[in-house]
Amino acid sequence: MISAATVGGSGDFRFTDEDFKALAQLAHAEFGLALAESKKPLVYSRIARRLRARKIDDFSSYMALLKTTGEAEERLELISALTTNVTSFFREKHHFETLRKELIPQLARQPRIRIWSAGCSSGQEPFSIAMTLISSLPEPALRNARILATDIDPAMIRRANEARYPNEDLTTIPIDLQKSGTRPSSDEHACFELSDPVRRLVTFGELNLIEAWPFQGPFDAIFCRNVAIYFDHETQRRLWARFTSLLRDGGFLFIGHSERVSGPALDDLQTAGVTTYRKTAARKPAVAP
Ligand SMILES: C[S@@+](CC[C@H](N)C(=O)[O-])C[C@H]1O[C@@H](n2cnc3c(N)ncnc32)[C@H](O)[C@@H]1O
Repeated sequence: MISAATVGGSGDFRFTDEDFKALAQLAHAEFGLALAESKKPLVYSRIARRLRARKIDDFSSYMALLKTTGEAEERLELISALTTNVTSFFREKHHFETLRKELIPQLARQPRIRIWSAGCSSGQEPFSIAMTLISSLPEPALRNARILATDIDPAMIRRANEARYPNEDLTTIPIDLQKSGTRPSSDEHACFELSDPVRRLVTFGELNLIEAWPFQGPFDAIFCRNVAIYFDHETQRRLWARFTSLLRDGGFLFIGHSERVSGPALDDLQTAGVTTYRKTAARKPAVAP
């Protein structure tokens, strides 16, 4: 089957089944993405935008470009085009309730607190974790707390580091946390910023989750929500096992509303609420990527 539409000014963009397969293979090898045949029309429209942006008229030239050394940026544009960065403060708020009621009382007694937001998009998830910790942990425990927040998309990490959001994003932040954790933006109208104590708790970095990870844990909690949904089954199983190997015993894994943990990780996790898992068994050696 061939899809076609006008991209740029110079003609139709042909997108055959073979083209789709070639793109799906690249997206799988580089990012672990699983592109089902049924997604072909969506993929077509997303890729057409990239061809337009790069003023390229045909798909094979775009594939050649993606394989060129020095086009790492375009490969990241591709993943941005094929996935969504949709997020919000306190999204799936039952996870933050579990964090506050079940995990934080233990964390208050620990010398070191580490939480990872994996696939953090533009930062709303790790900043929601930070506001929850600040509102519930005593000061001495907070001094030893760090939230690591990573995403594959450099544009998202740049936005997260700015920590500035439009005022309409305030609506999902509980009123008491709005007061303690945010302030009006000093240089942009109709925007707010996270307060310095909230920002200080979070360190952002770029990371492709299907590659090697530059840290060893252990983590008290890992949030990886609405990210694995893009991966094929085997990549998901491997990811859950790798996360579990980095959790301390009793640590929590929070996943997205349409995701389920599968594979060997289930040997070491027990269900602890809606899309929430808790590590039970003794930690096993880290699992390679
Ligand atoms: C829908 S957002 C989820 C944001 C947040 N976790 C939430 O639930 O609100 C998905 C994020 O996963 C990121 N992502 C997709 N594939 C990734 C990969 N292989 N490694 C790291 N991040 C990835 C995307 O860049 C995007 O920011």
